[in-house]
Parts: sequence; structure tokens; C-alpha cells
Amino acid sequence: MNTLIELEGVYFKYAGSKEYSLKNINFKADKGEYILITGPSGCGKSTLTRVLNGLIPNFYNGELKGKIKVVGLDVKKTPAYKMAKYVGTVFQDPENQLFLSTVEREIAFGLENLGFKREVIRERVQEALEMFKLNELKNKAPYELSGGQQQKVAIASIIALRPKILILDEPTANLDPLSAEEVLQLIDKLVKSLGILAIVIEHRLEIALKYATRMIIMDKGKIIADGDPRKVIISKEANIVGIPKVVEIYKRLVSEKVSLNTIPLSPEELAKLFVKVIKKDEE
Ligand SMILES: Nc1ncnc2c1ncn2[C@@H]1O[C@H](COP(=O)(O)OP(=O)(O)OP(=O)(O)O)[C@@H](O)[C@H]1O
Ligand SMILES: [Mg+2]
Repeated sequence: MNTLIELEGVYFKYAGSKEYSLKNINFKADKGEYILITGPSGCGKSTLTRVLNGLIPNFYNGELKGKIKVVGLDVKKTPAYKMAKYVGTVFQDPENQLFLSTVEREIAFGLENLGFKREVIRERVQEALEMFKLNELKNKAPYELSGGQQQKVAIASIIALRPKILILDEPTANLDPLSAEEVLQLIDKLVKSLGILAIVIEHRLEIALKYATRMIIMDKGKIIADGDPRKVIISKEANIVGIPKVVEIYKRLVSEKVSLNTIPLSPEELAKLFVKVIKKDEE
């Protein structure tokens, strides 16, 4: 099964709210995609992830309409613990997600909760420690780690459950730029090596864009742009989320009649394109 998410005509209004927080959401996603979701504060990004992981309607009351199928399950009829097997969620504040005495126990916790056998837990924990290069930190307390390391542990403990979908809601909001790069790159590796579907809510387009295979912009509860990041980022809809410097440079060059062939998504890509143009001019 390649299609992991199918949303058709989805609306959601929190109990007590007048406005719908999601309006007519139509959204399909397949395994192997790295989807970047962005949009102004309050546009419904977190609400959309809550529909995907079953927190809505299991933990949030309100009015939910439309078709919602995630890993083939009807989210409206599936208990939260079952959704948690397939959809893992990581939030912005790693400190609030980690509460056990060691990194190793932290990674084992979710597996224990889902009732895995002891041998399986041991195997999965070892695998996760190796995959995330956390072996040296396994006996440390999570609070002794840096923010970037904590976020890695949070992701490792979710990946140990082997989810089909990994949702990250502003995973780098509390990290320095280098750790942010590391976390977003790590997600890229997980998508490529495990074939999972990653949905990342991120404001740091400067870092995130180059990894994404697809970019979605939301505004006022709606999806207003969805597609190839290189196309979406130069659409007029992108103005509301702020255009990265590299894309601005690209636009400026185009207006000066310098053609770069493709839209750069990182300073490295821009530099490579420059070198090509300069070499061509010298010929
Ligand atoms: N638990 C809640 N109860 C009532 N209304 C809520 C609740 N959570 C969010 N909302 C409302 O739903 C709308 C969408 O909020 P949401 O948190 O999904 O936005 P967001 O795009 O994630 O914003 P941010 O970038 O600030 O995290 C907002 O108007 C918000 O006030
Ligand atoms: Mg949010």
C-alpha cells in the first residue's frame, strides 16, 4: 500500500469555537514523501496533524466532517492506541517528551507500552541506538543532553515503534541552526532508508526546503498551495510565509535576465548554479 493518507472534504471545528480550524482539506500522501507544511500562526497546521494521528477526534472534542483514511484506517472509528502504532508524532519541545532516567529506557518506553515482548524491545532499542548514533549516550539522563540530542532521542523512540508515518510539529523550534540542520537531514535519511512518509511542520524554510519532496502552504484553515517545493516557493502564495534569501536572489537574477535553469533551494545549490553560469560565460 503506497497511499498512506487520504483526506477528502475534511472540516474541523473545536468545541466552543465559532470558526472552523480546518476547511475543505483534500490531501493524499504516499510512502517515501517528505512533506513540508508551513503557514502563518493559527492557520491550522497542528490541527491538521491531530486529525492524522487521531488526537482529533480521540482527545479533542469538536465537529469533524469528511473522509479521513490513514494507513487504510478510518480515523473516526479507530482508537488512539491503534493509530499510535502507525503514526508517530514528535513535538517542538523535546524536554516535554522525555521523562525517564536514561536514553535507553526512554527508547524502550513506547515499545513497552504497546506490549512488545522483552527480546523484541531489546533488539529494537539496540537498533535505534545504532541508527541514531546514540550508543555513547544510552546511560545518560535526557536532561543532561543538548536540545539537538534530546530531539534525536525523541525521534529515535518513535522510530523504534516502526511507524509508517512520522509527523514532526516544529521539531527545530528550540534548536540552534546546526542542530536544526542535523534533525531535518536525519528525517531525510529516515525517509530514504525506511520508506516512511514524513510530515514536517517547519518555519525554517532556508534549511528545510532542500530536503522536502513536496511543500504545502496553509492559510486560515485551508491548503492554498501544494506541490513541488521549487514551484510552490515562487508562487504568490509563498509571500505569506516569507521567501528564503536564495530564492530572492534567484528572482532578482531572473529580473536582470540572468538565467539559472533551476530554482536554488539552498546556498550550496545557488553557488553551484553560479559556477555553471560563469563557466558558460567564459567559453
Ligand atoms: N485546543 C483548541 N481549542 C480551541 N481552539 C483551538 C485549539 N487548538 C487550536 N485552536 C484554534 O484553531 C486554529 C488553528 O490552530 P493551530 O494550532 O492548528 O494553528 P498552527 O498553524 O499550528 O499555529 P502555530 O504556527 O502557532 O503553531 C486557531 O484559530 C486556534 O486558535
Ligand atoms: Mg502549531
